[in-house]
Amino acid sequence: MSDLRVPVGLLPLALREVGFRHGDQDLLKGITLQFGSSGKTLVMGPNGAGKSLLMRLCHGLLRPTEGSIRWHGGGRLGGQALRRRQAMVFQRPVLLRRSARANVEYPLVLQGVSRRQRRRQADAALERFGLSALAGRPARVLSGGEQQRLALARAWVMRPEILFLDEPTSALDPAATKAVEDAVLTFHEEGTRIVMSSHNLGQARRLADDVVFLCRGRLLEHSPAETFFTAPASAEAAAFLRGDLVW
Ligand SMILES: Nc1ncnc2c1ncn2[C@@H]1O[C@H](COP(=O)(O)OP(=O)(O)O)[C@@H](O)[C@H]1O
Ligand SMILES: [Mg+2]
Repeated sequence: MSDLRVPVGLLPLALREVGFRHGDQDLLKGITLQFGSSGKTLVMGPNGAGKSLLMRLCHGLLRPTEGSIRWHGGGRLGGQALRRRQAMVFQRPVLLRRSARANVEYPLVLQGVSRRQRRRQADAALERFGLSALAGRPARVLSGGEQQRLALARAWVMRPEILFLDEPTSALDPAATKAVEDAVLTFHEEGTRIVMSSHNLGQARRLADDVVFLCRGRLLEHSPAETFFTAPASAEAAAFLRGDLVW
């Protein structure tokens, strides 16, 4: 059986002067920050601020056009080995046209896990996220909330060291949102580092240990949640928290 546990930590993740330029536009510029080895970071900021871009860069789906992104514990690991120890969940889950169970088994297939082990691990993950009854159903017919929980179950079988979630609840109703928030806490309790974007202030207050605030591609602050919500450092963050339009 392949051991999915992480032998040594990849974290912290350090970004130094990271920029992403497209044409003559700096979509992200001068981003220097570090994600420590534990906790839940919320990435906040108005629409178009660069939240999704930042998370895609961190996850390795895009390459920065300036600066560097380094996994401190990942020195000798190549791109694919690094990617396997991280997971990302999107606003709209990307699922295979197969059963819910087959979707959860898929990353294990790629890892060469035996059929029996796959089945056992996938069923445990489905149960953990309340999807056992839906295991045989085509993933594409599940509701939005069920699909998002399925994406989380698929991430769960890999026991990622870090989980990126890009506005995972923005298309969901309150009950489905609560289920996703509970799932995020489950990952956190099991030791997965959480980096999540959201424009839902209530959700950010419930989940954040620290907040990264972006505006127009710039990092305006990275503070403990308490500080960010009570005494934001920038006028833009203060306006954002008041609900004023910021761009
Ligand atoms: N791959 C890309 N190539 C070019 N422009 C992009 C790309 N991804 C996003 N953008 C642009 O970058 C800006 C930031 O986008 P995004 O990160 O999606 O913002 P947010 O998630 O904060 O709403 C937007 O103006 C968007 O149109
Ligand atoms: Mg986005």
